[in-house]
Amino acid sequence: MVVMNCKITERPEPYYCEMEAAIAEYELGFQSPHRELERITLPVHGNIPHWLSGDLIRNGPAIFSLVNGSYKHWFDGLAMLNKFFFYGGIVTYSGKFLASNAYIEALSSERVSSGEFATNPQRSFWERLSTFFKPELTDNANVNIMHIAETNRCFAMTETVSTMEFRRDDLATVGKVQFDDKMPGQITSAHPHFDPRSNSFYNILTNISRVSSYNWYRLDASAGSGMKRRPLISIPVKEPGYLHSFGMTSRYIVHVECPLLINPLELLLSGKPFIENAHWKPERGSRILLVDKETGSLAGTFETEAFFCFHHVNAFETNDEVCIDLSCYDDASIVDALYLKNLLHNRPPEMQLKRIRINLQSKKVTMEKLSQNGIELCRINYQIDNGKDYRIAYGVGLSPESQFLDRLLRIDVGKGDSLIWQQEHCYPGEPVFIANPNGDSTKEDNGVLLSLVLDAQAKKSFLLVLDAQTMTEIGRAWLPIWIPFGFHGQFIEWGG
Ligand code: CO
Repeated sequence: MVVMNCKITERPEPYYCEMEAAIAEYELGFQSPHRELERITLPVHGNIPHWLSGDLIRNGPAIFSLVNGSYKHWFDGLAMLNKFFFYGGIVTYSGKFLASNAYIEALSSERVSSGEFATNPQRSFWERLSTFFKPELTDNANVNIMHIAETNRCFAMTETVSTMEFRRDDLATVGKVQFDDKMPGQITSAHPHFDPRSNSFYNILTNISRVSSYNWYRLDASAGSGMKRRPLISIPVKEPGYLHSFGMTSRYIVHVECPLLINPLELLLSGKPFIENAHWKPERGSRILLVDKETGSLAGTFETEAFFCFHHVNAFETNDEVCIDLSCYDDASIVDALYLKNLLHNRPPEMQLKRIRINLQSKKVTMEKLSQNGIELCRINYQIDNGKDYRIAYGVGLSPESQFLDRLLRIDVGKGDSLIWQQEHCYPGEPVFIANPNGDSTKEDNGVLLSLVLDAQAKKSFLLVLDAQTMTEIGRAWLPIWIPFGFHGQFIEWGG
């Protein structure tokens, strides 16, 4: 079953050049490993549970420097897919760059060739003029993974409409997904929600134009249904808010619009990178839109204080309330803090785990802090907890003296208690929860967390397996290289 042979593809030098002299030990996480590996069996310290069976596929930026230019922001780097295959206590690793047009053109021209989140290509006047009427949207899908179980199709996602399909077995890029519909929009979220009741993914397509709109849709995940997005509702908006993720209860899509607002005309005309056309307008406050998933109607619009967030943790309904848990920032300065020049020198602003409560009767909105410790890149036991009242959230966090995310946390959102995993010189990524099929499957924390950790001193990464109940280590599998800091991944069960 497990293929033990390995293939190492050394990449030629041209697109790699050193960043400035060492600044922080974690800068390695923003440097390319500049090679691809295929089915390397990893040495294991401790144990990998034998019941763990499937692929953890992770996505993230992995090339930041080219010979003639570099990407400016953590969100900009060229995508790399990393796969950990688990079977019978053995782990193999494969890593491959996503062969997007952005990647192919960047390698051949040795410069930034696509408009990214915060970096635009340097172009001559005539080149700019030729792209003016047809703004390019990058296909550098470096944020997340989506898997459709019935068809076993895998996709790399970013915040543009360029969803990229790749092969699960060898991570080879298939190409850009052609959706079988004509939904308008350019910007989406790389965090779709899956609803097992309707066997559908829900997501948004924001159309930025003279009359901009939020277009919510449902994508049927049944085999044979094609890649057709069915519109739920189109909500006109003058200045669309930048949205990274959203929440989903059993009844509602929870759309939190933070006041980091995109100016459509500016986006079209300024020539500036995408996010530089968004402006922080705290006087507007934050809006919460509840969209009924069944009827596609807007069930309510609510207002609360201004804050910024990338990631929703969970959302659920109680008798007369909708609760929305998020990783919040006081303002949008975190976007600036994630430019590489800032990330390598300064501690980023702190996130806070908060709950918004909307009383559907009185329409009152309140916000409360759930824990003294903040988490980012948050995960839950999605299968049993998403959309439901729950207890445990996991994520990465910043210890008091650290400049970068350096610990893993498990937070009891009811009590506020935390359990922490931390190790010197180590920088862990998003912890993905996998339920243990043995034992009590209704227990939300019966399982393990998988996190890809950079050991900056060893200059290597390892895949860490933690007991999700105690946050103690069960085992780790060492890679022969380091992997740059990624964003999100999904665990796909064997045969799933
Ligand atoms: Co994200």
